[in-house]
Amino acid sequence: MPITEAFSESLTTHPIYTWTVLGVVVLGIVSFVLLMFISAPYGRHLRPGWGPTLNATALWVIMEAPSPISFGVVYFMSDNAFKPVPLILLGMYMFHYLYRSFIYPFRMRGGHKQKPLVTGLLAFAFNTANGSTNAFAITALAPHLLSTDWLTDPRFILGVIVFATGYAVNRQSDAILLSLRKPGESGYKIPQGGLYRWLSSPNYFGEIVEWIGFALAAWTVPAWVFAWFTATNLVPRAFSNHRWYREHFRDYPEDRRAIIPFLL
Ligand SMILES: NC(=O)c1ccc[n+]([C@@H]2O[C@H](COP(=O)([O-])OP(=O)(O)OC[C@H]3O[C@@H](n4cnc5c(N)ncnc54)[C@H](OP(=O)(O)O)[C@@H]3O)[C@@H](O)[C@H]2O)c1
Repeated sequence: MPITEAFSESLTTHPIYTWTVLGVVVLGIVSFVLLMFISAPYGRHLRPGWGPTLNATALWVIMEAPSPISFGVVYFMSDNAFKPVPLILLGMYMFHYLYRSFIYPFRMRGGHKQKPLVTGLLAFAFNTANGSTNAFAITALAPHLLSTDWLTDPRFILGVIVFATGYAVNRQSDAILLSLRKPGESGYKIPQGGLYRWLSSPNYFGEIVEWIGFALAAWTVPAWVFAWFTATNLVPRAFSNHRWYREHFRDYPEDRRAIIPFLL
């Protein structure tokens, strides 16, 4: 079916879902263009002029928790919730987001720092839209996921492997960053080890790979839109971080790239 016909059919049958997915696509384009010129104002790029701020740890929980909650609520409203393939995809999503929402924020050193409320509100809106549309697509709009035949489909197998690889890279890279500070410290050092040998932001590289893996395994529109949105957000931020490291450390390794080994 041509894409325009599929879109207008989806608009008629599921208008809220369709507009929400489209909204995330547009938000991705807008954020990519903006973030190429303006660094998102948090962490090392925090600066005044972005309105009220909140404790960074608290804001992480508030902005990330809608992701597992909205996914879980929509997912368990479906009669297909206990089918094997949707259950595996639920497990992958929750494996990432339960950690990111409820454990990671308390492991950050320097989490007492402030973060502008506006960044949290945007993430809150995105996470709610993303969690609910992904769960809806998996349980209600993807007949291929309701059969166990999908378990042996190359897209599913490759997707699970890519997801697991991205997850491992993301967790390892975040762990290296979190270990750089002793309790009470809040400054910055040059990260070493793991994929920091080649990249300034391997945590972002891992995150993008992870959601490409999820999109392959789920093979739904919102899963691909999620992978796209993650890239539109994290690629420009990786460039900002890379520039920042080079400006702040004279001895920053010359051969490190920003986000894609040997290329970018
Ligand atoms: N899916 C998405 O669209 C999305 C969007 C954003 C983030 N994320 C994920 O969320 C996680 C955190 O993202 P982030 O943007 O906050 O990452 P980040 O800027 O790399 O910072 C992560 C943590 O490490 C600390 N840190 C960073 N560089 C450091 C250095 N050189 N020396 C000492 N400490 C350092 C930061 O402290 P400060 O806070 O003090 O800088 C922060 O606590 C990542 O895994 C990322 O992939 C995903």
